[in-house]
Order: sequence, then structure tokens, then C-alpha cells
Amino acid sequence: MQIFKVGGAVRDRLLGLPVTDIDWVVVGATADEMLAKGYRPVGADFPVFLHPKTGEEYALARTERKSGRGYGGFTFHASPEVTLEEDLIRRDLTINAIAEDDLQNLTDPYHGQRDLEARILRHVSPAFAEDPLRVLRVARFAARYASLGFTVAPETLELMRQLSESGELQALTAERSWKEISRALMEDQPQVFIQVLRDCGALKVLMPEVDALFGVPQPEAHHPEIDTGLHTLSVLEQSALHEQPLTVRWACLLHDLGKGLTPEEEWPRHIAHEHTGLKLIKAVNERFKAPKDCQELALLVGKYHTHCHRALELKASTLLELLQNFDVYRRPQRFEEFIGACEMDARGRKGLEQRSYPQADYLRGAARAAREVAVQPLLEKGFKGPELGEALKRERLKALKAYKDEASA
Ligand code: CTP
Repeated sequence: MQIFKVGGAVRDRLLGLPVTDIDWVVVGATADEMLAKGYRPVGADFPVFLHPKTGEEYALARTERKSGRGYGGFTFHASPEVTLEEDLIRRDLTINAIAEDDLQNLTDPYHGQRDLEARILRHVSPAFAEDPLRVLRVARFAARYASLGFTVAPETLELMRQLSESGELQALTAERSWKEISRALMEDQPQVFIQVLRDCGALKVLMPEVDALFGVPQPEAHHPEIDTGLHTLSVLEQSALHEQPLTVRWACLLHDLGKGLTPEEEWPRHIAHEHTGLKLIKAVNERFKAPKDCQELALLVGKYHTHCHRALELKASTLLELLQNFDVYRRPQRFEEFIGACEMDARGRKGLEQRSYPQADYLRGAARAAREVAVQPLLEKGFKGPELGEALKRERLKALKAYKDEASA
């Protein structure tokens, strides 16, 4: 048997990037031989094994034949006769289809090195279409390598368009899609992920609510970029520049969905978009089974981002309501993430990226003032149960009024 390093490990070494995961392909072996050498099988009918010591993945060289719709619709053909070239041709991109032996000799039948140099994401063969998840993968790689100058080959984008139009994307499970989406959002340029999905028509299928924002105008005075879709991309871009966590990036992507529902005759104003957007945010959250913290933050940011922008004008009672709704006493981190997302929203506007956002510190100060109200003196006064809650609220309101007065003095 012969063993080669393949996929991301070879690609990233050639790009001079750090390599974390190593995948291996084994040519000329049977499953029984692998088992005899102590490799552990990953699944019952999947020709992939884990190395007994390193835990790295070793896959038998295989060809894939599509036998139906979706990821379940695969039959694998792995046998000792499958050649390295046959295994590489069923892979997604040429830059992922380079094999390397233990002397660092490369086998590169589909010119992955040439595409690495030319900074092109190009599919290897029509077999690309066998796994629709690859549409998301290519968009993710585009986001990851955008800063190196990579773009998607026109013929690959065309194939991605055909796949998007074929209905195949709907067959993807929420789990597989979310894995790609969440990884893509954590890349340096997550806005490129959304842009590429849009360019190939996949965004319309996966997140029509986000796609609908393109072409929707906003008032130029607040939004010099005008287009809501472009604004959303900028907000995402800012979220990565400011190294925000996944929760914040997800909330950034979805914060303005309500603007896609505004009747054209109301453009460029979007009255109550915070409210109308909530059902759309919920739908996208559920479609991809986003983790609970992502779902929650997206809904809160959708509902309250305008409150944050207007923080300095809010009455003490409205401030208190906001803090209570966020349960800021028990969930300070979530409130911090909310502020982060709103700041990205403010910065994601053309020409206003560097403008200061005093609302952030103002709200942090308000949260601190409310949190510092001590319970002990109220307990000592004999307050209990609901009365204690009310008394606490009154004291917090007092503290917020004092905070407001001090801030405006
Ligand atoms: N692969 C593929 N199609 C997929 C998934 C994987 O062709 N849907 C192939 C590619 O050759 C890929 C390799 O399997 O390079 C390993 O896949 P994976 O570990 O998912 O990705 P990497 O390319 O290693 O990239 P990453 O750095 O994102 O992990």
C-alpha cells in the first residue's frame, strides 16, 4: 500500500500557512488490511479509518457515484485498484487535489499548483456536482483566501449556479450547512462568503431573507452606502476586523432582515423593521439549527439595535427596560455581545467606519450603574418576593437617572 498526504494539509503547506489537520489517502489497500494494522474504522460502510496513535484520518482511495439526491445519495467504490488519480479527480477543487508522499514529492494531475499560484479556486471535474455542500465550501475558501487574492474561476461559479438552481442545495442537512456557515463567518473576510453565495444564486436558495436586502435602499443621510445588502456585507466585514465572536457575526448578518419586507412605497424609510424582521430571523435561525446563543443574540440584536444607536437619548425607564430584557444582571456577556454587534452595525456604513461610537461605553456604564444597586439594604428593610423585585427596580431606575444626569452634565 502507498500512503499520501492530501487536501488542506498539502494546500496550506504550499501556501506557507500553518497546517492543523492532516488527511491521508491510502492506495492499494483493503479495509481488512487497514484493520489488521490497527486502524480504527470511522463508520460501518465508509472507507475511512483513524490512525491508532495519531488519530488522523486515513481514507482508502475511492471513487464516488451519486445515486440520489442529497448527501445520503452516495455509493462509494473503494478498492485496491482505485488509483491515486481516480481518487483525486472526485475531489472539489484543484488546490485540494494535490497528493504528497513522505519525501514531499507531489502528484498533481489536475494542476492544483498552477491554480495556487494563479490564486484560483477551480473545480477538478464535473464530479464536483456530486456534493452540493461544495457550493458552500468554495464560498468559504473564497472568504478564507480572499486576502491572498483568490477568486472563484468563472466556470466553477457557473457550475455552482447550476447546482443552486437544480434544487440540490435544499437537500443539504441543517447540520452540514451550519458547519460551513459558522466556519465561513469566522474567516477573515466573511462578507466574501455571502457575496460568492449571492454571485452564484445560492444565497437566494439558502437565505432568501438576506438575498432580498440587495437593491433595498436606506436613507442616504444615515447610510451613505444606501443599499441594505451592501450595508450588511460591510457590517460583517467590520465584525471580522474587530474579531467578534460567532454569535456577534451571526447577529450582524441577520440584524436588518426586516428591511427586506418594507413596501417599496415606504422606501428608503423602514419603519418598525426591527419588529417585522423578527419572524425572518427566527426562520433563518431554525433553518440552520443555529446554536442557542447565536439564535438568541440574533433575535435580540434584531429587536433592539435601534435602541442601542439611540442609547444617549433613551429615558432612564427605557434604559432600565432594555437592561431587564437582556437580563443584564445574570447575562453580562450577552449584553456585551449585543453592544458589539450594534457597534459593527454603526461602523458598517460607507465612510463612517472610523467614527466613534460613544453609545457602547454609555450602555456599559448604564449596565454597571444598574448592576451596582445592592440588594442587601432592601432585604434589611424587610422587602421580600415580588415587593423586593419592585423595590430593586425602583432603586435601579434611580441609579439610571443619576447616571444619565451625570453623563449629560
Ligand atoms: N473534500 C471534497 N469534497 C468535500 C469535502 C472534502 O472533495 N465535500 C476533499 C478535498 O480534497 C479536501 C479534503 O477532502 O481538501 C479534506 O476535506 P476537509 O478536511 O473537509 O477540508 P480541507 O480541504 O482539509 O480544508 P479545511 O482547511 O477547511 O479543513
